[in-house]
Amino acid sequence: MPRDVTLLWGLRSPCAFACPHCYFGTIEEHKDNPPGQAGVLSHLSRTDLSAEAVTAFARTLAGSDVERVVIAGGEPLDWPGTLGVISLIKDAGCQVVIATNGVPLTRPHVAERLVDLGVDGVSVSLDSADADTNDRMRPSRSGRFGYHDVLDGIKTLLRVRAGRAAPRVGIYTVVTRSRPQEITEVARLAADLGVDYYVPQPISLAPDHKLFHQMSHTSGDVADVSEQLDRLYSDPHGLNLPDPSYVQRFVAAISTHDSGHVPDCFGGARLFFIQPDGSVWDCPSDRRIAATTSERRSTIRDGDARTLFATRPKCTDCSLFSRDCVNMWPLVPSMPQLLLNEGAAR
Ligand SMILES: C[S@@+](CC[C@H](N)C(=O)[O-])C[C@H]1O[C@@H](n2cnc3c(N)ncnc32)[C@H](O)[C@@H]1O
Repeated sequence: MPRDVTLLWGLRSPCAFACPHCYFGTIEEHKDNPPGQAGVLSHLSRTDLSAEAVTAFARTLAGSDVERVVIAGGEPLDWPGTLGVISLIKDAGCQVVIATNGVPLTRPHVAERLVDLGVDGVSVSLDSADADTNDRMRPSRSGRFGYHDVLDGIKTLLRVRAGRAAPRVGIYTVVTRSRPQEITEVARLAADLGVDYYVPQPISLAPDHKLFHQMSHTSGDVADVSEQLDRLYSDPHGLNLPDPSYVQRFVAAISTHDSGHVPDCFGGARLFFIQPDGSVWDCPSDRRIAATTSERRSTIRDGDARTLFATRPKCTDCSLFSRDCVNMWPLVPSMPQLLLNEGAAR
């Protein structure tokens, strides 16, 4: 069997940001009412695995089917243990991509370690080319960090990387219904910064989320989003983008809501999602997590990657479509394209 499994590993729950649309919810929502159901994320981080359990699992990746580990959270680069975990994953021969809010990259020793460890990709979240709009979408909890720190973090990493090919540096942008223009405006900013890849992704909110009506796309938004995506793909400014089929997936995703079939789904076949408490799921979709039977539940706590991901179907035909599905494509089939070094302007 080839190594073809991608793990999306939400390594730690805490984050210095309090994005109101975040998959993790907000501390304010959870402090009086901590979520208790399996699979529901929270920045409260009451059940995050110990450092020992995390490193014990990372040591089992060598010789497993895991090809790539995308480390997210919460904010992975604020936890002192993360750099050691990355080192173990790289020693196991896996590709490593970090999803970060970008602020930790302003600390030069963090950027230097990521380069020295041979991290393959660093995906930085930025939701607008306009500072105030970004900072409303992505407010820091202390009010001290924002857009300008994120840009400084990107510039620091690119400066420290100078002359070396890795890590490739990308920007991820959550697109909401009121600002389709961010699709092309953030691309222009990314190109000006010298970034290598760019992924605009549709916001994914449950219909009962308080921001659903304000932020989630409706069928009336499809034309504007399509136009922006077409403009981006006809002039990518030298940025690597997810392969062109992503445009159809994006448009199809915002044209419907939480109904539909995903014929070529790879969740539970080539993609698994690990939560900070160690739970392993086929993918991060809340619909798929809610539908998981107790026999399919597993954990990396005392688990071994060589057995956990050894027996799996080639494809999981999934009838639990949600808008989050489209966001899985850049992590698995499109990731090699995003991390390409040749072909891009830089
Ligand atoms: C949860 S964050 C964790 C990693 C890191 N702290 C960061 O800020 O990128 C991972 C990515 O998920 C995106 N995200 C969070 N909530 C989302 C939602 N409801 N819909 C779509 N993307 C979302 C974030 O913008 C970010 O790009």
